[in-house]
Amino acid sequence: MSTRQIYSNKDISSLHISFESWTQKRAVSTLGSNVGSEKLPFQTWHHFKEAYTPELVAKAVVGSKRDLLRCVDPFGGSGTTALTCQFLGIEPVTIEVNPYLADLIEAKLCVYDSDNLARSLGRIVRFMHSAKASCKRLAGLPSTFIESENKDRWIFDRPIANRIAACLDAIDGLSNPVHRRFFRMQLGGMLIHISNVVVNGKGRRYRQGWSTRFISVEEFDKIFCERSQKAIVEVHAHRFRKEKNYTLIRGDSRQAVAAIGEIDGAIFSPPYPNSFDYTDVYNVELWVLGYLSSAHGNRALRESTLCSHVQVRREFPSAPAESNQLTMALKRLTSVRGDLWNPWIPEMVGGYFYDIKLIFEGLHAQLASEGEVWAVVGDSQYAGILIPTATILAELAPTMGYAVVNIESFRSMRASAQQGGQEKLDEALIVLRKK
Ligand SMILES: C[S@@+](CC[C@H](N)C(=O)[O-])C[C@H]1O[C@@H](n2cnc3c(N)ncnc32)[C@H](O)[C@@H]1O
Repeated sequence: MSTRQIYSNKDISSLHISFESWTQKRAVSTLGSNVGSEKLPFQTWHHFKEAYTPELVAKAVVGSKRDLLRCVDPFGGSGTTALTCQFLGIEPVTIEVNPYLADLIEAKLCVYDSDNLARSLGRIVRFMHSAKASCKRLAGLPSTFIESENKDRWIFDRPIANRIAACLDAIDGLSNPVHRRFFRMQLGGMLIHISNVVVNGKGRRYRQGWSTRFISVEEFDKIFCERSQKAIVEVHAHRFRKEKNYTLIRGDSRQAVAAIGEIDGAIFSPPYPNSFDYTDVYNVELWVLGYLSSAHGNRALRESTLCSHVQVRREFPSAPAESNQLTMALKRLTSVRGDLWNPWIPEMVGGYFYDIKLIFEGLHAQLASEGEVWAVVGDSQYAGILIPTATILAELAPTMGYAVVNIESFRSMRASAQQGGQEKLDEALIVLRKK
């Protein structure tokens, strides 16, 4: 009798690791924030503040009118939608423009032989122990990255930079590219912790007392080994997910969405129109891990992200005219242009909704009949003028071929100082169904 015949379908499904065993049926206070993710296998690999919970994805799967067999996330981020889909037996399709995040997603979605991974870790450790201290390979990093005599501030102390370089050399020496990606991600997830800076929505700043904070090379090795061992245990314990296939598209979803093929639904959260640039937030990882090697590359990446920030001067496309709320908000923004912290904010907001419309129309073309889009979106505010994103989307929906099924507000975000104040901003789940 073949192995296949030994198990009935029921037996085989009981071998799968369920969504509940991944999340441990934890109680979450809100679906829209990844609070609590520091305890979730895979999600600890890189603390991704802007992620939503896997429970939100599960809610969308249960609540969708169509059965989901294939589901897309055009803004993959840390891969919450894709990974949750694998646990729920749905084939995920993900698009992500940031190459570090795309690798993070793929490292979570693939299947590994954990014995071989453990052997690769052994090789890395042995190589690092015999490596000579040098950070030659990091010579092309921006000048603020590594300690040097003529600088009074730097992100990495020199001994740590040398150790990062040795670790990267060791990873590059592995023959298996899937293993190389896996360990690069383990290193990537600890870079900020071993640096002299912290990063948040407002950018990068030096830690308090950074110049007296000391992380030794031994501590570096310990952190890297512990993180890697934990991740190996996690991929092993969760290797029998109901779906093991995935499609990852590395690139700009404004173009890539046209090539995804038929889908039953879309679950995602786009960047918000709040001047937050993910290229900035993940800049340390992008440079140190070698995804960026020139200012030109940095600019090109910024330009391929959604029009949600003003970090680079670019031609913003014109705002869609079909939403009164948007037209009014843009008029008000333009009238106070001189008071805005950046004069191009009105054009950025207009361009943001042009891009969002492009994505929703692109998804519409790929969705099966009555397929739904579940999107978590956030309001924004500049000089006291509110940009009500969910309301604007609801106005645009009929012009894009969708009916509005539901809008559910889930938590308030505090407006950043850049957005002109302390008032609370709304974050909402909007559900649209293909008409
Ligand atoms: C709010 S995050 C998504 C978080 C995700 N839902 C999660 O739970 O991890 C938005 C993501 O969109 C990505 N992004 C921005 N512009 C993009 C574009 N034009 N194409 C594809 N991805 C883009 C950013 O790099 C970021 O990772």
